[in-house]
Amino acid sequence: MMISTDPQDQPVVPDLSGDPYGYFAHMRRTAPVWRGTLMESDLMPAELKSSENWTLFDFESVFNAFRADEVFASEMYNQTIGLIFGPTILGMHGKQHHDHRSLVAKAFRQSALAQWEPEVIDPICDQLVDEFVNDGHADLVKAVTFEFPTRVTAALLGLPQEDLEMFRRLSFDLISIMDDIEAGFNASVQLGAYFQDQVDQRRSKMTDDVIGDLVAAEIDGEKLTDEAIISFLRLLLPAGLETTYRSSGNLLYLLLTHPDQLDAVRRDRDLIPAAIEEGIRYETPLVLVARNTTRDVEMHGMTIPEGAAITLCMGSANRDEKRWADPDKFDIHRPRRAHISFAGGIHSCLGMHLARVETKAMLNSLFDRVTDLRLMPSEDSQIVGMPFRSPGSLPVTFRPLQDS
Ligand code: HEM
Repeated sequence: MMISTDPQDQPVVPDLSGDPYGYFAHMRRTAPVWRGTLMESDLMPAELKSSENWTLFDFESVFNAFRADEVFASEMYNQTIGLIFGPTILGMHGKQHHDHRSLVAKAFRQSALAQWEPEVIDPICDQLVDEFVNDGHADLVKAVTFEFPTRVTAALLGLPQEDLEMFRRLSFDLISIMDDIEAGFNASVQLGAYFQDQVDQRRSKMTDDVIGDLVAAEIDGEKLTDEAIISFLRLLLPAGLETTYRSSGNLLYLLLTHPDQLDAVRRDRDLIPAAIEEGIRYETPLVLVARNTTRDVEMHGMTIPEGAAITLCMGSANRDEKRWADPDKFDIHRPRRAHISFAGGIHSCLGMHLARVETKAMLNSLFDRVTDLRLMPSEDSQIVGMPFRSPGSLPVTFRPLQDS
């Protein structure tokens, strides 16, 4: 990888879709706060793009920016993903964000999660693995990592079983919007109409599911509008489904390529939480998020001006050598320190506990049913992509366990 020796004046960023971590380490060392961008959004109209672009690479800067939400705001999401999803929680701030988050958080409360785990999530993962357990081989991306968060999301929302196929197709088109904007936009419109219908049904007859909870949620007489519910439901596809599908693919790839650690987790399931966190630290499914500055701000002796477009590079922050010893090593046994993949501050991930529970269930279902899991050689099974990263396929062989 060719890297300029003058990092503050580096016009060309190397291709980061392969292994970006050497470049990130170079930037942390030489320009942790850098005037430049890794994020080219085709979605934002050219006239709204800022001429000032800055990227933060080290853990401390990214962490502080997440917490300083008055200065590092997120309103620019209204001009990017907001154009497709409608106004979402991600682009809100202050009281509006607080009130909206309090309402939607009711649907994702701990007590609901405790009920979903045994009643919805575990059975879905068990059934999924049962569908291919006797084949002796599978592509885990197709058979498991895309499928379990899709089925879990559909079930938690309370969508009818017969709509699953359509929901799967539209979800895929929506999260692939950067590859095919037209198909993504059409999927967004169709999902909007479909979710509206689901909301209407619950207004006449309430159901016990996430859409029902969103319809019923009320604080101090305030309720969510239909538009807010539908935008939120659309957002759940990239925010909840895509991230979980990619992070579980990354974890499976990392375990399969570190067989001693795979074996350790399989034998001692208490290691699953540590494996999940290390997988998300080492290969975060979402590498970059955006912010915009609302005033001039000093960082690492640099002045970032008001109105700048900011990239927070979580993928780099998670490998910061000031926070983790040997950060480029995947090690589920390392002393636990919180990573930054679930962001921080007011926009910290609302679904992090759900993502953890789903991933744990997926691993348990797999380990309960198969043994001798081995990754077959394949060009497509590397972890790639920017800003989302995961393997394209995970072809494996295995033996079914006798008592499954
Ligand atoms: C490994 C899986 C996941 C990762 C790495 C992840 C990561 C993130 C990140 C980085 C943000 C902040 C984005 C920003 O501020 O620009 C975020 C916010 C959010 N996430 Fe997740 N997420 C995951 C799973 C989920 C799941 C399963 C759900 C729900 C079903 C979810 C729902 C949300 C929502 C609603 C927000 C917006 C919160 C707000 O703006 O207040 N996420 N997530």
